[in-house]
Amino acid sequence: MQDTIVILTGAGISAESGIATFRASDGLWENHRIEDVATPEGFAANPDLVHDFYNARRAKAQDAQPNAAHIALARLQSEFAGDVYIVTQNVDDLHERGGAKVVHMHGALNSALCAACQTRWDAPNVMHKTDTCPNCGTAATRPDIVWFGEMPYFMDEIADRLVGCTTFVAIGTSGQVYPAAGFVQEARNCGAETIEINLEPTGSQYMFDRQITGKATQTVPAWVDEVLGA
Ligand code: OAD
Repeated sequence: MQDTIVILTGAGISAESGIATFRASDGLWENHRIEDVATPEGFAANPDLVHDFYNARRAKAQDAQPNAAHIALARLQSEFAGDVYIVTQNVDDLHERGGAKVVHMHGALNSALCAACQTRWDAPNVMHKTDTCPNCGTAATRPDIVWFGEMPYFMDEIADRLVGCTTFVAIGTSGQVYPAAGFVQEARNCGAETIEINLEPTGSQYMFDRQITGKATQTVPAWVDEVLGA
């Protein structure tokens, strides 16, 4: 059977591209209340505030460039003899622009979602609460982002990949948000080697067989070279 590597990425992989993480001292959750901007209730209470928040994040992501870590993972995906499945919690598109194929379990800034009929379309640069759905015409346009209390995307597909993987790698994620934080346990239960690549050890480091600490732009290309035997 061919080797399968499952990679989970978080905000840390995009940090050196200039995109703020969530839980750093200067992170997004220092300046914004989660319940205001990342819950369905917050959106219902103040859609303008929530659209403004994601419009600003979309603009920031569009200005950012993929870094050496994104590009190294794309190289791994194209050159590794087995399968490389990348699932990201990030809502930017830097993995794709770096050349990788990924699934966005927490949604994507470049996608719009109709809360009335679930139709998706390419997000405009600036979204407003008065925008109407191209399918049903309802003014119920929301960012296609998975908020707290909502079910992340691709969970069945991810579970299938975790069951069969030989290596599980978490990159740039604090391991504080479930269900993503539980993927390492699922992979371990199936006998996978587990590796954490992060700026610093996290609270869940004991779950990993191996830790690689340091900046993603250095550690990830070095690890990819190791895997590819370069
Ligand atoms: P966090 O902000 O919780 O964690 C980012 C991790 O990246 C931390 O452990 C940092 O140490 C690490 N880090 C920072 N800079 C790094 C670098 N240059 N190289 C390597 N690692 C670095 O972000 P996530 O774990 O992605 O969800 O957060 C998970 C989810 O919580 C997000 O998807 C978001 C948030 O609430 C939703 O909004 C639904």
